[in-house]
Amino acid sequence: MSPVLNLQGVTVRRGRKLLLNNVSFQIQEGQRWVILGPNGAGKTTLLQIASGRLFPTTGTAQVLDETLGAVDVFELRPRIGLCSNAVANSIPGHETALNTVLTAAYGVTGRWREQYERLDERRAFGLLNAWGVGTVFDRPFSTLSEGERKRVQIARALMTDPELLLLDEPGAGLDLAGREELVSSISELVDWEDAPATVLVTHHLEEIPPGFTHVLLLRDGELVAAGPMGETLTSENLSETFEVPLELVEREGRYSAFKKS
Ligand SMILES: Nc1ncnc2c1ncn2[C@@H]1O[C@H](COP(=O)(O)OP(=O)(O)OP(=O)(O)O)[C@@H](O)[C@H]1O
Ligand SMILES: [Mg+2]
Repeated sequence: MSPVLNLQGVTVRRGRKLLLNNVSFQIQEGQRWVILGPNGAGKTTLLQIASGRLFPTTGTAQVLDETLGAVDVFELRPRIGLCSNAVANSIPGHETALNTVLTAAYGVTGRWREQYERLDERRAFGLLNAWGVGTVFDRPFSTLSEGERKRVQIARALMTDPELLLLDEPGAGLDLAGREELVSSISELVDWEDAPATVLVTHHLEEIPPGFTHVLLLRDGELVAAGPMGETLTSENLSETFEVPLELVEREGRYSAFKKS
């Protein structure tokens, strides 16, 4: 079985800065990865590559069996669900929550003259309901609360029934109850047998949903460690990644970390 994502020696350079430096790792079908790392470590850059929105300066990136640079990314992108600030910022504020989800079927963010099938509309509505935001279907995206927006964005990311789901800080800006609900919803989603391979970027270990299988730690564009959760998410690796002595705490499949006193 070929990997869902296969990065080999991926480097991204902007001017003199290396956003990613010689990063290699693979994601296999059925795996759920968490990416952790300080601000500016290159996490979003990595997701941009995984979503076919950015090509490596050197190295190779294969996404869903296609090599970036040798494939029409417009054919590849509908196979990948992306929830990120960049996508949210490109959604016109007046667009309704329903259209925000529906337009993903065409890989666009604003509704224009496309004709959508009843089936697509039903699917978009069903996804809004499944993510607890069915009641705001006709509200402009700009009037939604942060938590509602996050749920609408995840519904949008799932609209094309993607083979790879990429979530960049989906819990940012949520209150405690909202975060806990989101963590449960994502955990349920990945528990489903046919769930897409999923990658979640977060700053907070509390946001790692139970059921995630692997972790990748990035610091300053470089991979500190990548592998199965149990052996890779350790106090030592976290301390090295964040350059602070940290102690990992695990409780019933949930995680947290504190500075060692
Ligand atoms: N076009 C660019 N030119 C120069 N530097 C850039 C460019 N785009 C991004 N960077 C820098 O690359 C680094 C990595 O950015 P990236 O957005 O991938 O980090 P991140 O790990 O997602 O950070 P955060 O946790 O703050 O979201 C940052 O220092 C950023 O300022
Ligand atoms: Mg980021």
